Amino acid sequence: MKIFLDTANLEEIKKWADRGVIDGVTTNPTLLSKEKGDYKDLLIKICEVVKGDVSIEVVEKDPEMVFKQALEISRISSNVVVKIPFSEKYLKVISSLVKEGVRINATLIFSLLQALLMAKLNVLYISPFLGRWDDIDVDGLKLLEQLVVLKTKYNFQSKILAASIRNLMHWHYATLLGVDVITLPPRLLDQVMSHPLTTQGIEKFEIDWEKSQKKLV
Ligand code: E4P
Repeated sequence: MKIFLDTANLEEIKKWADRGVIDGVTTNPTLLSKEKGDYKDLLIKICEVVKGDVSIEVVEKDPEMVFKQALEISRISSNVVVKIPFSEKYLKVISSLVKEGVRINATLIFSLLQALLMAKLNVLYISPFLGRWDDIDVDGLKLLEQLVVLKTKYNFQSKILAASIRNLMHWHYATLLGVDVITLPPRLLDQVMSHPLTTQGIEKFEIDWEKSQKKLV
């Protein structure tokens, strides 16, 4: 299973890429709007730091403009994946882009049938949003479970990218379900790094070792 970082913050991306635990990055207009400076420069830098796939979302709305912008985004770097939201008006755009060899991440997926249609268009990634279902009191993990069944049953090639991950429980169960990729906000990586039992264990080993006053090697 691949782990992507869900951020457009270059410092966070550098930090986790350097530690070797992330395989790619997902951005979106909200995440990008939090960053300063020239966005194209920033995106180029992100694509250099990360060796794996970097999803960049279109911001145009008119289908023809979305098509053009998607092509431009795809030229930023060879590891770019163009993110396009699920919408009837973009079906033809997505289908044409896939035929042109542009790698697509179909985003804002909230149902099994939306995912099925995107799989038929041969997009590279399908991004179901768990947290946003949970926000309105619906179990987002159920959708993920159904998508894994769908993928296995029909053996479709699109990869399931679990998105809108809000807590460690989402991460834990998405992992058990067998998704292809999960994209995590940096704070969850920070959170998983500190476990009280690990910290206690390290302290105890240190104390016991000092008491022994011996040399290891
Ligand atoms: C995924 O590609 C999206 O950028 C992201 O996971 C959305 O998460 P949110 O619902 O927490 O905004």
